[in-house]
Amino acid sequence: MENIIALCKRKGFIFPGSEIYGGLSGTWDYGPLGVALKNNIKALWWKRFVTDREDMFGVDAAILMSPRVWEASGHVGGFSDPLVEDTKTQKRYRADHLLEEAGIDVKGMNIEAMDTNIKDLALKSPEGNSLGDVRQFNMMFKTHIGPVANDDSISYLRPETAQGMFVNFKNVLDSMHPKIPFGLAQIGKAFRNEIAPRDFIFRSREFDQMEVEYFVHPDQWKDSFEHFQNQVHEFISDLGIDRKKVHELEIGPEDLAHYSKRTIDFEYDFPFGKKELYGLAYRTDFDLKSHTEASGQDLSYFDEESKTRYVPHCIEPSFGLDRTVLATLCDAYTVDEVDGEKREYLKLSPKIAPVLVSVSPLLKNKPELVEVARKVYVNLKKKFGRVTFDDNGNIGKRYRRQDEIGTPFCVVVDFETLEGVKETGVMDTVTIRYRDSGEQERVAIADLVEKIEGLV
Ligand code: GAP
Repeated sequence: MENIIALCKRKGFIFPGSEIYGGLSGTWDYGPLGVALKNNIKALWWKRFVTDREDMFGVDAAILMSPRVWEASGHVGGFSDPLVEDTKTQKRYRADHLLEEAGIDVKGMNIEAMDTNIKDLALKSPEGNSLGDVRQFNMMFKTHIGPVANDDSISYLRPETAQGMFVNFKNVLDSMHPKIPFGLAQIGKAFRNEIAPRDFIFRSREFDQMEVEYFVHPDQWKDSFEHFQNQVHEFISDLGIDRKKVHELEIGPEDLAHYSKRTIDFEYDFPFGKKELYGLAYRTDFDLKSHTEASGQDLSYFDEESKTRYVPHCIEPSFGLDRTVLATLCDAYTVDEVDGEKREYLKLSPKIAPVLVSVSPLLKNKPELVEVARKVYVNLKKKFGRVTFDDNGNIGKRYRRQDEIGTPFCVVVDFETLEGVKETGVMDTVTIRYRDSGEQERVAIADLVEKIEGLV
């Protein structure tokens, strides 16, 4: 992890949040390459789950929502972590984490049992002090809307994007007239006041989610659940992540969230252990029913064919974008040896690499080479966007630099290219050098776009 974190900072992927002020715990800023990687992942997700399908509708709901949304969803009452306080320093710790570190299996353990276990084992805080009682701590960030800060002006930063879709269910029904089954999809920020943000961007206080709420007839939930179970794996393959490192965990009834009848966690073998990457939940009609009761609005669906009215049930595949970034980075991070030298590089899929192609003249100080290289660059840039012009240092150094940020293809204009120009009057061939194998191939400039398209 240390190597990956260092590479991310050195190369402009991810920086600690508010770094020049000493940082803000649980926040991270994405730099130029990080945002490019993130955007490519978002585009891939949106393509698979929205634009490639006929039954999905995108939404982009406000982050600030009526506090009544969070009362109805159960978040005001129940979205909490079990905390325990160091009686001397008043620092708070996750009770479940302390128990896990002491080798106790906390699956299905309620807050009273955690309290008893901590007391029976006489567990101390990491500073070696005694601990108080275990208490629930709500993880939503509270804020106030408008100029007066009182109980009537309370609002929350959303802790999941999902509710933005449930509250727009009726709007989409009335405007787009979709037939069940159909889904709503959204990508956006979520905020949680995590007590123990940790493991780089794995657990942070501000993160992005990519979520689908898929509405079905209650009899159809099993088929849809299975369908999205496969779709999650397909998306993992789209990303180029090794599927052998992804494991399914069926959540036991005692650990299910209040809204779920069935949940599968998709776990990835991160360097710090096997941890949750994504979740797939059968949310039943919990959310639509709760919002119907709380808002007084009818959120049912009328089926024209069967002439029946019912409240649809919901299947929710939920993807953390930052955890996706982390899993792709961990999966791609590779160290090998080239020409007797250690090489540290990212084996990112061409589908998501921040830079797809780097174009170089073999030598920087030969204007004829630079001129042709610029032409090749402009042409590729127009087509692919993710293209850079790199003429810094010698060619070996450029390859290393591009390898380190995961650029799969380096195109080089050399003297043979110029020979072709002389002989034919048009630009002739260039080399493509492949990141993973280091092999090079000569390709006609006229075929370059098609060649690269075939490799993405
Ligand atoms: N709408 C359902 C929901 O929010 P969740 O399991 O709490 O379910 C879904 O979160 C996904 O969001 C997780 O699988 C994970 O990828 C991501 N996630 C949750 N908490 C996170 C955090 N503190 N930092 C980064 N990603 C997080």
